[in-house]
Amino acid sequence: MNIQKVAVIGAGVMGAGIAAHIANAGIPVLLLDLTTPTLDKLLKADPAPLMHPKNVRLITTGTIADDLPALAQCDWIIEAIVERLAIKQELYRKLATIRRADAVVSSNTSSIPLHELVAGLPEDFAAHFMITHFFNPPRYMRLLEIVSSAQTDPDAVAKISQFCDHKLGKGVVACKDTPGFIANRIGIFWIQTAIQEAIALGLTVEEADAVVGKPMGIPKTGVFGLSDLVGIDLMPHLMRSMNRSLPAGDALLEKATIPPLIQTMIDTGYTGRKGKGGFYRLNRDGGAKIKESINLQTGEYSISQPAKLNSVKAARDGGLPALITHPDKGGQYAWRVLSQTLRYAAALVPEIADDICAVNTAMKLGYNWKFGPFELIDQLGAEAFARRLEADDATASPPIPGPSPARGEGSEEALGDCVLSPPPLAGGGLGRGGNIPPLLEKAREQGFYRHAANATHYLQPDGTYRPLQRPPGVLLLADLKRHAEPLLSNDAASLWDIGDGVACLEFHSKMNSLDPQILEMIEETVAFIPQHHQALVIYNEGSNFSAGANLGLLVFAAKLGGWDEVDNIVRAGQRAYQALKYAPFPVIGAPSGMALGGGCEILLHCDALQAHAETYVGLVETGVGLIPGWGGCKEMLHRWTQFPKRPGGFLPPVLKCFEIISVATVAKSAQEARDYLFLRPHDGITMNRDRLLADAKARALAMVDGYRPPEPPVFHLPGATARVAMEMAVNDFRVQGKATPYDAVIAKALAVVLSGGDTDITETLSETDVLALEHAQFMQLVRNPETLARVSHMLETGKPLRN
Ligand code: NAI
Repeated sequence: MNIQKVAVIGAGVMGAGIAAHIANAGIPVLLLDLTTPTLDKLLKADPAPLMHPKNVRLITTGTIADDLPALAQCDWIIEAIVERLAIKQELYRKLATIRRADAVVSSNTSSIPLHELVAGLPEDFAAHFMITHFFNPPRYMRLLEIVSSAQTDPDAVAKISQFCDHKLGKGVVACKDTPGFIANRIGIFWIQTAIQEAIALGLTVEEADAVVGKPMGIPKTGVFGLSDLVGIDLMPHLMRSMNRSLPAGDALLEKATIPPLIQTMIDTGYTGRKGKGGFYRLNRDGGAKIKESINLQTGEYSISQPAKLNSVKAARDGGLPALITHPDKGGQYAWRVLSQTLRYAAALVPEIADDICAVNTAMKLGYNWKFGPFELIDQLGAEAFARRLEADDATASPPIPGPSPARGEGSEEALGDCVLSPPPLAGGGLGRGGNIPPLLEKAREQGFYRHAANATHYLQPDGTYRPLQRPPGVLLLADLKRHAEPLLSNDAASLWDIGDGVACLEFHSKMNSLDPQILEMIEETVAFIPQHHQALVIYNEGSNFSAGANLGLLVFAAKLGGWDEVDNIVRAGQRAYQALKYAPFPVIGAPSGMALGGGCEILLHCDALQAHAETYVGLVETGVGLIPGWGGCKEMLHRWTQFPKRPGGFLPPVLKCFEIISVATVAKSAQEARDYLFLRPHDGITMNRDRLLADAKARALAMVDGYRPPEPPVFHLPGATARVAMEMAVNDFRVQGKATPYDAVIAKALAVVLSGGDTDITETLSETDVLALEHAQFMQLVRNPETLARVSHMLETGKPLRN
């Protein structure tokens, strides 16, 4: 049975976000709370919970008191009310009498065990009940932990898992019914350890974040920046609920201490970004915004100073091993945090998850770590890691007992309190937790992952290795690259064989920016494919598909007055993209993340797109004082003529393109990209990032039979009449102060291209004609000092200059 209608009860932070995301999947959802929820805040929230404002129409609202009977029509009922067992159970008792016999009920609880939630409820209710633990914000955080038990109907679990994977795009991880499930169990341990050790070692918050950040493949917010983001008061709150349910002797209990500094911060409203400030704060005294940070020893704020640690520098070349063996305090800190966190993670399998893959996935998708704990141990070398733990244990003082957990039942009122004394500072902090976990012992010889000729194997709790298998429909370039050589390759791009006669063009330049090497690779690819392959997918696994043309090269050439060089790049791009468009095989673009400027233009030249739902596409050239010069104007004109959203002849498509390109519009999702025709009606959207390549490949294969390249379009453009209309619009914006003087110059150049230059409706223009207009206007703009100033500013600050 498909899931066709969902209900969410509780319209707070999580319930409203979950309802919005179900609407993003195109599924009607009923949202109930004590009083009727208002949907306004969903439309205003930033980051947006909705992928398109119109999705809000799929959400209907009501109250628990009046509208529970409507739940009889729902296939899945999600409870996301206040974290109190008694209140949740009272609701379940009502749901048990209302829900359809095959409907699933799930809780979004983050801390109440499954067995407590279903205690005393009818058996058939328990068989259709599970925990579905979303992370905040539900649209963007990919992890979904599902907790079931022996009582749960496996078909119900499979049905919900499938739906969340395919329709909601979640990385579904099966968890056992243990405290904090997987990600928070390890995540809280990691945060507590990182904070306490930073204080113990006398690091600044900047130093700590520089270590427990990028060098470990953790977002650069590190641990203090992350705490500011999620709220400093959250940790004691989570710790309290963990405290009551963790098994005695668990190493996390030793971390329950909330340092006095942090307690004071919470008590005085310094709870992070949502409060008066946190470990970092922006001081707005005197108008200027000054970033300050707290002194972890004294609690005083001063101007934030960037960290200068040799260990962090060493890690750039030497990776994690260089970091943890470096003698400076950053190296010592890295070891203290990693040794304890990774040892803890290793000790928890199979208690919290059946295998290491579940744990790695949970940390990657729930905490945005680039590598899971077991991948990190492999980077250090399992044997070397275990040996150093043993050496630490041999020199450490005896384990320091953690606070004895006060155990309550059920609701948070009965939770044990945290111990508020400072953490022990002595050297004993290193090796506590004792002994080498059995799983790590088994990994010593060959590591957690073994890469053989054609497959990767992972270590199981029984000591045997098992081949890593992705579910059907999941295809990752990273997997393939481990065991294959590229068909073609240079420094910026490679071509891979992804099977069944399909090749994949991957960019791997810095930020996947497009440079002459990528353009060369495109031309080589177009010549190469017909010999052995039948279709091409353009795809990569960077966080962004492409940030656009390499602006550094442009500045370099412009500063030297190398206009021929610039001219060559414009022509090479036009040539490469035209070659792709008219190649004798289907070309599918499969973007995820940002696809800007030249990165958008390449997509506009593909036969079809299969875009990840989280794709942010736009022609942003005006922001750097330019206009699209690689066929972007031409393709947009063609699209808006082919698929006019309103009738009315030749002018509306031109004006629409002007509206989109002149203000550097970026669509905030793939769904929104359809509004601008960056995606056409026949282009597809994949919700789950891991399914993107397989979906794109299937789309490519479906086009192979009888494939013919597109017919070159013929343009009828209005010429001067349209140009004048666009110039008048720009002048209005100038008068209203919405456009800067140089915005007007760029807009006028754009107006020349989009209106077709010196032409009128009776004439026909070819693609070559429009490309020539793009080229000419681009070359004029690029010579202006204002353009150079915009490009340089973008390179230096990442932000547009409004000159
Ligand atoms: P919230 O406080 O934002 O929303 C809770 C909602 O429950 C409110 O709209 C409230 O009106 C409603 N409610 C309160 N008393 C009720 C009652 N007696 N009967 C029915 N509804 C009642 O809480 P939040 O953060 O959305 O949490 C909801 C659930 O999600 C909790 O179980 C929490 O543990 C879990 N969770 C929260 C996460 C987060 O980051 N906030 C992350 C993952 C899970």
